[in-house]
Amino acid sequence: MMRFLFIAQTPSDNTSHLAQAALGALKAHAGSDSQIIFKPPTSVIASDIDDCEGLLLGSLENIGALAGLTKDMFDRCYNDWLGRKEGLPVGIYIRAGLDGTATKRTLTSYANALSWRLIQEPLILHGAYDEAFTAEVEELAAMMGAGVEAGIY
Ligand SMILES: Cc1cc2nc3c(=O)[nH]c(=O)nc-3n(C[C@H](O)[C@H](O)[C@H](O)COP(=O)(O)O)c2cc1C
Repeated sequence: MMRFLFIAQTPSDNTSHLAQAALGALKAHAGSDSQIIFKPPTSVIASDIDDCEGLLLGSLENIGALAGLTKDMFDRCYNDWLGRKEGLPVGIYIRAGLDGTATKRTLTSYANALSWRLIQEPLILHGAYDEAFTAEVEELAAMMGAGVEAGIY
């Protein structure tokens, strides 16, 4: 049985909608006996990644930086995650009204430092909210679910 952890910070209707879309796609493309655990970053503890074969992370950029509640999760868990789950396949999407590059850089450096394996570059959903973002997060989540299930990642 595959186990996935999906962490999403969802302070707005749009980010909640994106998280629900990603969750649906992950469920649809992971195996039917897979377990998918969905948590906000405030509820995550270091051991949550222990039994996971894949991690999907949805966050956002605020005031030129990674949003605080996701940063808080890394502040609390980073040291315990070092060396704990090397090679973990990780997919990341970032909702960014204005830019998103600082957050992409931060999350990429965290993933690299933790020896996690990004399944693709972090996806930035940039600019005014666009319903096309839904398909983009669904595609990322589907890749995560199907790819881990098939042993590609
Ligand atoms: C106080 C504040 C600061 C923000 N700063 C940034 C920023 O520096 N870069 C950016 O790309 N977006 C920024 N945004 C936009 C948020 O990323 C965006 O509103 C959030 O991801 C939620 O998406 P939504 O507005 O579509 O619900 C900011 C939003 C707020 C409220």
